[in-house]
Amino acid sequence: MTHTAVLDELMTLVDPGKVLTDAASLEAYGKDWTKHFPPAPLAIVFPKSTEQVQAVVRWANAHGVALVPSGGRTGLSAGAVAANGEVVVSFDYLNRILDFNASDRTVACQPGVVTRQLQQFAEEQGLYYPVDFASSGSSQIGGNIGTNAGGIKVIRYGMTRNWVAGLKVVTGKGDLLELNKDLIKNATGYDLRQLFIGAEGTLGFVVEATMRLDRAPRNLTAMVLGTPDFDSIMPVLHAFQGKLDLTAFEFFSDKALAKVVGRGDVPAPFDTPCPFYALLEFEASSEEVASDALATFEHCVEQGWVLDGVMSQSETQLQNLWKLREYISETISHWTPYKNDISVTVSKVPAFLRDIDEIVARHYPDFEVVWYGHIGDGNLHLNILKPEQMEKDLFFATCAKVNKWVFEIVERYNGSISAEHGVGMTKRDYLAYSRSPAEIAYMKAIKQVFDPNGIMNPGKIFAPE
Ligand code: MLT
Ligand code: ZN
Repeated sequence: MTHTAVLDELMTLVDPGKVLTDAASLEAYGKDWTKHFPPAPLAIVFPKSTEQVQAVVRWANAHGVALVPSGGRTGLSAGAVAANGEVVVSFDYLNRILDFNASDRTVACQPGVVTRQLQQFAEEQGLYYPVDFASSGSSQIGGNIGTNAGGIKVIRYGMTRNWVAGLKVVTGKGDLLELNKDLIKNATGYDLRQLFIGAEGTLGFVVEATMRLDRAPRNLTAMVLGTPDFDSIMPVLHAFQGKLDLTAFEFFSDKALAKVVGRGDVPAPFDTPCPFYALLEFEASSEEVASDALATFEHCVEQGWVLDGVMSQSETQLQNLWKLREYISETISHWTPYKNDISVTVSKVPAFLRDIDEIVARHYPDFEVVWYGHIGDGNLHLNILKPEQMEKDLFFATCAKVNKWVFEIVERYNGSISAEHGVGMTKRDYLAYSRSPAEIAYMKAIKQVFDPNGIMNPGKIFAPE
């Protein structure tokens, strides 16, 4: 069959006009927020029902066409990039909240529901969907599940995985499976739901997800604290954790702050210049909690771990402090950063940081290095900014060399080369730094079971053989 005939057949499987092949759509839907791989999809298809997703997967098997799932395309590891003539399956039209169960505190969502849409829906019910990050206004639930998205509240609420009560998936063979039936307790063997979370669409596509909600937090209050060095951040974490239940503990460097404040729309937290900043958040549910926080702050100042600090007194101040952290990623995207998303157990962070910092200082003397991340979870974002005049490919190739040494340290500390962004294509060549050969062989064998023809997001997680 010719390409045209194969695409003609695809068009009969979905609603009229729901297969696009124009250059602008191929460009827009063929990529995520990464800039490493030029998009080159064959077509974009927009199914409007589970049956249509199944029909597309069966069609792809019959014709040996590779499929790439596409949500909000906010990924940072090229997990949703179609660079090799794949058909992109967009979930933009599967974007409805289907059901809310007040007693179970669960919401059934189609995969194209935008994260913020779910957060707002939860708020309308007086509840809370706690997985949150800067891209929540565009990212979709299906993509969050595909990457087991983390973000800024993991220290208290965990990752997306913790909030998925049940899934309906279409496997790479085109079968529809209902996984876990939204149960809290279910001891009936392998939990296939968990296998699909973080699988980056390589086993099948999520067509419905039941997400759990939590009680709404009370009087969230943030502090931004300036520290004299890297080494002071973790004692500050431990001091606050000893007194309060933190809902977030983030950090960023002076370079990150300078870029954000340089935008002109976010005020600096205070005047004292500090090399590093911690942003922490807690529920100031009583006077006692607020005074514990202030006493802990004073203790940290006395110990020399904190140079200056500020605490939010209103919702607007809370939002403004969060903008200092949340705007970093988008602000520095202007410099085409080489991104790292690494993690170790929290106890290893101080030594790990010292080793990574040493490598970075030694090998990136000419590049601007921007640190930030979810340090309370042991997750660091190390971003190297491209010098304005340097050619992109040369810049990425230079960074890739240093990256090897960074990942050797990650391996030595038993850490992860991707804490929350996923492996996609940008990290696939480094998987062996975090997973043993035996583990990778088991992972590949699992893929073979769910996707025997290798049509589901090929080239993601594993390098093509
Ligand atoms: C963040 O923590 O801001 C996000 O993971 C995005 C990024 O790392 O750039
Ligand atoms: Zn992050």
